[in-house]
Amino acid sequence: MIVLDQKNRVFSLHTQNTTYQMKADHNGVLLHTYYGPRVAPCDLSRLIRYVDRGFSPNPSEAGEDRGYSLDTLPQEYSTCGVGDFRLPCVEFEPEDGSRLADLRYAGHELKKGKYSLPGLPAFFGGEEWETLIVHLVDSTCKVSVKLYYGVLESCDLITRAVQVVNGGGQRVRLRRCASLCLDFQRGDLDFITFDGCHALERNLNRSALRPGVQSVESVRGTSSHHHNPFVILCDHSANEDYGLCYGAMLVYSGNFLAAAERTQLENNRLLLGINPYHFCWTLEPGQSFTAPEAALVCSPSGFGRMSRQYHRAIREHLIRDPYAGRRRPVLINNWEATEFHFDAERLVDIARAAAPLDIELFVMDDGWFGSRDTDRSGLGDWSVNEKKLPGGLASLVPRIRELGMSFGLWIEPEMVNEDSTLYREHPDWILGAPNRPFARGRGQLVLDFSRREVRDHVYSAIRQVLGSAEISYVKWDMNRSLTDVWSAALPADRQGELFHRFVLGVYDILEQMRRDFPNILIEGCCGGGGRFDAGMLYYTPQIWCSDNTDAIDRLRIQYGTSFCYPVSAMGAHVSAVPNAQTGRCVSMETRGVVAMAGTFGYEMDLNHTTPEERETIRRQVAFFKEHYGLIQRGDYYRLSDPFRDPVAAWEQVSPDGREALVSIVSGPAHAAVPFRSLRLKGLDPDADYRVNGGEELWPGSVLMEAGWPVPIPTGDYQSAQLYLKAE
Ligand code: DGJ
Repeated sequence: MIVLDQKNRVFSLHTQNTTYQMKADHNGVLLHTYYGPRVAPCDLSRLIRYVDRGFSPNPSEAGEDRGYSLDTLPQEYSTCGVGDFRLPCVEFEPEDGSRLADLRYAGHELKKGKYSLPGLPAFFGGEEWETLIVHLVDSTCKVSVKLYYGVLESCDLITRAVQVVNGGGQRVRLRRCASLCLDFQRGDLDFITFDGCHALERNLNRSALRPGVQSVESVRGTSSHHHNPFVILCDHSANEDYGLCYGAMLVYSGNFLAAAERTQLENNRLLLGINPYHFCWTLEPGQSFTAPEAALVCSPSGFGRMSRQYHRAIREHLIRDPYAGRRRPVLINNWEATEFHFDAERLVDIARAAAPLDIELFVMDDGWFGSRDTDRSGLGDWSVNEKKLPGGLASLVPRIRELGMSFGLWIEPEMVNEDSTLYREHPDWILGAPNRPFARGRGQLVLDFSRREVRDHVYSAIRQVLGSAEISYVKWDMNRSLTDVWSAALPADRQGELFHRFVLGVYDILEQMRRDFPNILIEGCCGGGGRFDAGMLYYTPQIWCSDNTDAIDRLRIQYGTSFCYPVSAMGAHVSAVPNAQTGRCVSMETRGVVAMAGTFGYEMDLNHTTPEERETIRRQVAFFKEHYGLIQRGDYYRLSDPFRDPVAAWEQVSPDGREALVSIVSGPAHAAVPFRSLRLKGLDPDADYRVNGGEELWPGSVLMEAGWPVPIPTGDYQSAQLYLKAE
């Protein structure tokens, strides 16, 4: 609910459990007055202290009042160079070369429903949303800034976006444009980020904020394996179930900056948005720029609740139909089994072993097109390699379909190998500055997706392939970071737009593909989890979580990922042992339990499994299908921390609390293992549950307060699943 106090110019955004408030003060400065647990109607500017501190300047309107400074007041959208020395949101450079921004309140609009952002991913929905737009203006360079707020009460979700409009008569260069600024009138907060590298993504890192700026960012052109555009600020004591925490997520897939600053007043500012690194957007008179959406969830009761709110919001208001609600197929992918070395017979062999186990979708990974026999050639030539696949897809796909499986394939549209027809014909279509040798990544170059003709050429080849056979799934991969970011199609003074224009180009093709092939399920991928972000989820309902398929490493990767992203978004497969990345051997049972904490599938040649393993797989697939709704759409509870605790455990509970699935995975075996109980969560304390169809009934209160006795492992990496049903 959005409440306006017109007289005092106070805007309060209430969700079920939280309140967010801002106020345009007597000088028109938009102050951020509160964000936290829901409070009674009140002008919370009474919390603000006006003090003359540490060389903080006073704007001209303040006259002799030295206690009024943009540097000490909590700002809703921070300005630049005119008195606030903390992190700036926005910076304008008009023709005189000044690099300042000063904003004052100029009006507001209130709307039912949710705003949308043309060309950009954004949360969506109907009447359950409300929108507030606050208008600010820099009266000197006549640039206005519209701050968009979307309020989804039921999920405690507040989205924000920003549009900058050049309303003056001269060209203005926009040198930074953050999506979100959040000023806290307290400093005792922890900053949590999700960091790592290729094959070990989204490890949780937590530390208390110290004076100065702490930040994570990407300058790689993708959101990156290394840091995720999702961060948390929280009480020092916050944990899964207690304490105040604030999640901030950017709905964007390119360079980002998430920075937290602890100031001289021991307050904190959080800034989130497009990274100002290599960013400069020219606005001719009348033109506008829209910054990507950010989405906030505040939870007064720990991380678990925050995550569940994000999960629901993403499942119901970001991932689009038809795959938002439709059951996704259990798949088998050939990559780890064959890499580039396959032909039609080998693929059909793999599919033939999977079909009797009720695996539903066969995915042909990299290597099916052009001269793609290694990673040095073929990218860009999106036509079937008939040496490997005689008769093309027209021959292969019916053979897979005859086995009762649907068919999907891999593509990497943003890339090209020098050894390809595309590159030989259009060497000027890549990112790369003139007369400078370019860097290769995985032996490939990046196509300039800011250019429509490049996108159109690539997409028309891909569209032809997708239209040539019954294809129901596409894995959209992206296997390098951007370097040599220079476009032959942009003038010198607009090269600072390229990183963002590249991302807009990717979104543009994804949107076209969704439109042309609405029933194709697109899975995002970026060398595993290098572009695992909410922006991609708007186009690709699931994303390959990591190239690391080792079940034990995956426990940590999926744990970190779960803080923001739902199970239904996390691509997870059972692969062969010893694992290709770690050399570790883990049982088929445990590998299945871990992959079931994601979208679930297999990535191996099942011809090389024992009859017992195949029987296990058959049971896993049947179990997954039977409990699909609970696993993919149930409320998700983390029951342990796999970085610290001896067992990894998590739980999905149906919204009515009548059903739950608990998964437990132990670590390396030890002698004399202590007895452990696992306290479950989210159950109905008054209901009696039958566990795995056993004789005894277990009261919900007992399972939650006394716990379930964790089985004593008799070897490394054992697992158990408990299916609970209330009687
Ligand atoms: C990286 C992906 O993450 C893998 O799953 C696989 O598709 C390879 N690329 C293929 O080149």
